[in-house]
Amino acid sequence: MNQPATPSASPYGTLPPASSPALRKPVSLPRLLEMHARAEKITMLTAYDATFAAVADAAGVDCILVGDSLGMVCQGLSSTVGVSLETMRYHVESVTRGVRRVQGTAWIVGDLPYGTYQESKEQALRSAAVLMQAGAHMVKLEGGGWTTETVRFLVERGIPVCAHLGLTPQTVHALGGYRVQGKTVESAALMKHHAHALQDAGASLLVLEMVPAALSAELTAELPHCPTIGIGAGSGTAGQVLVLHDMLGLNLGKMPKFVRNFMADLPGVQGQHGIKAAMQAYVAAVKNGSFPNNALHAW
Ligand code: KIV
Repeated sequence: MNQPATPSASPYGTLPPASSPALRKPVSLPRLLEMHARAEKITMLTAYDATFAAVADAAGVDCILVGDSLGMVCQGLSSTVGVSLETMRYHVESVTRGVRRVQGTAWIVGDLPYGTYQESKEQALRSAAVLMQAGAHMVKLEGGGWTTETVRFLVERGIPVCAHLGLTPQTVHALGGYRVQGKTVESAALMKHHAHALQDAGASLLVLEMVPAALSAELTAELPHCPTIGIGAGSGTAGQVLVLHDMLGLNLGKMPKFVRNFMADLPGVQGQHGIKAAMQAYVAAVKNGSFPNNALHAW
């Protein structure tokens, strides 16, 4: 029997050949700072697998966040608290393969999950190393105040850090739910204090989640070396992030106010309904025998 010299491509959701040339310059820390300095908005989207990461990269997304929101999106958990470091490592590795395979230009941020950095700076370094070795360019961790020394420790050891203030989902139980943060004079002042300390400690990006627009705009102006990335934080931040499934209209629960369903805006496509409709059409076609069509889909 004749064997092909190289194995043929997998038939399932394949990525392009590994040699595809990059179409834009890879995103780096200096480039993110340059973008901020010339007021070009930074785009970030979450992705959890190789295919979506490759598509996001090819679409020109600057940063891909392998967020622990995968706990909800991929694992069906009710919060991010149950996500493990091993799960994050697996998804960071998958996303990295997808990005490298197509253009290799997006900056990859790996989320440190709950319980993998709170104990000590050393624990944070060990956990961060796992995600960096899986392909992340930067790690993200939640909280202010006590995190400052951890950020400094990681940055001094060559690990770029994205901080995260405002609504920090890993501490949702302590915060009493998914609520806007920094609404009072005292809490806004504390958030500013934490943000400045994080910039001084070397954080290179700062996610602001569910923060009043005026406060996040002020913070953005005050932090020239640490671009802010908003989610539910208004238009005055240096960049924006959304959870992929939310912006594709695949949020099966209540859509947060800050999300826009970008699929719904495309002519003729209706996000979740479009995908559900395709599945219904598949079921109907198999049932009625119109799929597969031997003239098209068989040998
Ligand atoms: O895990 C995640 O996706 C996040 C974003 C919501 C910022 O942290």
